[in-house]
Amino acid sequence: MNQDDLKRQAAKAALDYVEGGVIGVGTGSTVNHFIDALATVKNRIEGAVSSSEASTQRLRQHGIEVLDLNAAGELSLYVDGADESNARLELIKGGGGALTREKIVAAASARFVCIADESKLVDRLGTFPLPVEVIPMARSYVAREIVQIGGTPAWREGFVTDNGNLILDVHNLQIDAPAELETRINDIAGVVTVGIFALRPADVLILGSTQGNKTLT
Ligand code: A5P
Repeated sequence: MNQDDLKRQAAKAALDYVEGGVIGVGTGSTVNHFIDALATVKNRIEGAVSSSEASTQRLRQHGIEVLDLNAAGELSLYVDGADESNARLELIKGGGGALTREKIVAAASARFVCIADESKLVDRLGTFPLPVEVIPMARSYVAREIVQIGGTPAWREGFVTDNGNLILDVHNLQIDAPAELETRINDIAGVVTVGIFALRPADVLILGSTQGNKTLT
């Protein structure tokens, strides 16, 4: 099995958590497998709140209704992938640049089921460059502030988020205290969202492995 097969395997297992109502749907290659699987049981749900234009398009292609979060209220379930997770289910997300809407939909959901292949589980977060969404005029200022806390920011040139903002990918951070760093970076003026999900971690992590799925809670 290759990495994509493991992602698909984890994504299919997340269907067990779909119990009805409106659900939140994340972004990325693993979530694309989840959306494809969700289409086979779409009568089970009333619709979905999407975290990106890309996921919205894929949901609609499958005939799944996409609702505005403001109209949907609290969601029972959010399913999304991750770039890294530690054993406490604290995550780095945003490799696809959708971190702000992902964090909003995760926050508005009672349960967050994260789906990934087993390579995403790490002892300590930070090997994957940490995405930070910034307001365009604040790009250089935020980059200087991030250098002050020990990171090496790289502007993801040519990329604009669904919200019209920019992404800095921060290298060389060893994240020993994810929640503290999440708060610290979020407090920099001009930062929209940092891709650490520790203040609201996942509740369930399904990891696709060649021995089957492993589920952490
Ligand atoms: C999107 O912005 C990200 O948060 C993705 O959820 C994350 O990058 C995982 O992507 P893959 O499922 O493609 O590995």
